[in-house]
Amino acid sequence: MNTTETKSSFQDKLDQDLCIEPKDTMPDEYRKHLIRQISQHAHSEVIGMQPEGNWITRAPSLRAKQILLAKIQDEGGHGLYLYSTAETLGISREEMIEQLHTGKAKYSNIFNYPALTWADIGAIGWLVDGAAIVNQVSLQKTSYGPYARAMVRICKEESFHQRQGYEIMTNMMKGTKEQQEMAQDAMNRWWWPSLMMFGPHDSDSPHSGNAFVWKIKRKSNDELRQRFIDKTVQQAETIGLTIPDSDLKWNETKNCYDHGEINWEEFRRVVNGNGPCNKQRMTHHIKVHNEGAWVREAAAAYAKANAK
Ligand code: 3HC
Repeated sequence: MNTTETKSSFQDKLDQDLCIEPKDTMPDEYRKHLIRQISQHAHSEVIGMQPEGNWITRAPSLRAKQILLAKIQDEGGHGLYLYSTAETLGISREEMIEQLHTGKAKYSNIFNYPALTWADIGAIGWLVDGAAIVNQVSLQKTSYGPYARAMVRICKEESFHQRQGYEIMTNMMKGTKEQQEMAQDAMNRWWWPSLMMFGPHDSDSPHSGNAFVWKIKRKSNDELRQRFIDKTVQQAETIGLTIPDSDLKWNETKNCYDHGEINWEEFRRVVNGNGPCNKQRMTHHIKVHNEGAWVREAAAAYAKANAK
């Protein structure tokens, strides 16, 4: 099929809102865009296991420990779905991991902040997974079939993650003064980095143009950020938490909240490797990846020995 034919059948499917499937012909730029986004999404899921994993031995009850263990296992599973989705586009797992370890590939800014108290585990579940849900619900309609289907499955588990985080924050706000202060401190530290998760403003987003043309994105960074803010402010007020933004104000005309300016200098600093935990996260991932080499080798040897 020549390039023109490739592009027209691809465009026909997009125009009919049909999913593009792995065996379909697709422009190289579309494939590369998806590999970039999906592999970084997968990296985020796996690196995101670290801040929460640090609290498994310190969970305040057996129930809390069970819930946290289940959540972290879910995140690992989300990473595997997404690595497998990216592999359908022709990149190997090894290549993706090498891109992560060499800094060629990113992962979400949010996982470069430390989880300092148990309230952080609540804030991560409620705010980080809450933001992820807003983004991922929109991605359920993305044009690449395997990615859209992975999102449907992931979103079901994310809603449990968000609810358990909100339950932790709710219980702490019903607790002692010290617990309330701990919850507010976590709110203060996680609110703005959670807004940054949605990416730069639309006007500063180099990929959004193509992402919309190819129906990879259905809603813009700013639209999804706004949706998250409008939903979360009410949840915070219900349990007595204060949003750390003195410019936050309901805008009757726009029917949404106006908010203060995001610190994009901090975003760039963290995304470029200079956040509080970037080095720790990567050192740990490289260490554990190397320690797990024998598992991968054994699984590959078993598969080879049992290949029909
Ligand atoms: N952290 C790190 N880098 C970010 C970022 C963030 N929060 N937001 C944007 N960027 C990067 C982009 O990757 C791109 O850099 P690149 O060219 O090196 O890839 C650059 O900033 C410009 O951003 P754009 O908005 O132009 O890029 P996109 O069109 O790709 O939009 C996105 C960014 C909205 C994050 C989009 O990639 C996306 O929707 N990704 C899928 C969702 C995802 O990755 N979520 C991460 C969190 S997963 C999670 O929270 C798991 C939960 O279970 C806890």
